[in-house]
Amino acid sequence: MKKFVFLFLTIWCVSLSFAQQYASFKSGELWKDDNGIHINAHGGGVLLHKKTYYWFGEHKVEGRIGNSAQVGVHCYSSTDLYNWKDAGIVLQVSEDVSSDIAKGCILERPKVIYNKKTKKFVMWFHLEPKGKGYGGALVGIAQADKVTGPFHFIRSTRATPKSWPVNVLELHKKAVLEQYKEERSNLGHEEHPDSVNTLGRDFEKGQHSRDMTLFVDDDGKAYHICSSESNSVIHIAELTDDYLDYTGKYVRAFVGRKMEAPAIFKRDGLYYFMGSGCTGWRPNAARSAVAPSIWGPWTELGNPCVDEGKETTYQSQSTYILPVAGKKDAYIYMGDRWCPDNAIDGRYIWLPVEFKDNRFIIHWHDEWDLSFFDKYQ
Ligand code: DGJ
Repeated sequence: MKKFVFLFLTIWCVSLSFAQQYASFKSGELWKDDNGIHINAHGGGVLLHKKTYYWFGEHKVEGRIGNSAQVGVHCYSSTDLYNWKDAGIVLQVSEDVSSDIAKGCILERPKVIYNKKTKKFVMWFHLEPKGKGYGGALVGIAQADKVTGPFHFIRSTRATPKSWPVNVLELHKKAVLEQYKEERSNLGHEEHPDSVNTLGRDFEKGQHSRDMTLFVDDDGKAYHICSSESNSVIHIAELTDDYLDYTGKYVRAFVGRKMEAPAIFKRDGLYYFMGSGCTGWRPNAARSAVAPSIWGPWTELGNPCVDEGKETTYQSQSTYILPVAGKKDAYIYMGDRWCPDNAIDGRYIWLPVEFKDNRFIIHWHDEWDLSFFDKYQ
């Protein structure tokens, strides 16, 4: 027995000493954690806490079943952004079939933010109850005392129930046409959200929230940004001081533009938005926009990708834009190259964001490192 333990420990130590060390980003390649396993944090976001980066994302399993949540939310930590330590599953799906987050539900795009007032870590994610497709259009909210969890699921909800947006139109308050009363998950291409008035239809129980992200501004106010009204309109909603609910103040943006995969970042007092069109798991051309305030007005800036492959965002879809700590004008585009037939094999596309002519652009790089940003320091 002793011999066996000794042999096991020797093999383990040797394999650790050979663990791959990274010093650059190679988008689309396998990206291994400290255990030598491809990082499993899809649709993710990164939180910087006490000089360490924490990457939270969807843990996927092999095959098409991996497109639904079989495990939960995975977290990794890093101090250099290249090498990531496995911090484990921080939010587990439930074995209880009656739970909102029952194993087999759809749990996508988890984002974690830190609340300085409550000293809690708060996670929001897109949630679809098991077996209901994408018709639920809910958010899930969870909270933890420690950055690496465990996160405890609090509740699920539609977005901003019983509140009208700041820029509501009178027509939204009128009765919904009979043919649009029932829940329909997607608008036909010919339909404009205002003619269907899903906003009015969903007023009582709350607005759709599918693809989503969170953004914390310099003043500590947090916002939930989601694809709403059957993916036709982006909603930007203010959160309460504890980040666990909506204040009821929100705005409709990009009406009728049918965007998903929202990501928001701030530079020199301006707010930048990146998103995609709606083509399921298949990539499409990215969109970008700028605004002087989180409430808008948002001005579209076109496709930020500029090299060959720009029509598919270099075969990826945005999930987050990460400001690099301590570096001026250093932002990283984080995208997912989905692999719906074998979900666990999804790859990560991380590219530097550059600023040119009052917009941001993204070039393709086979390989790059953080010294890319040295020219701005
Ligand atoms: C695109 C979204 O961005 C993903 O998060 C996921 O919901 C897929 N659609 C599902 O088709």
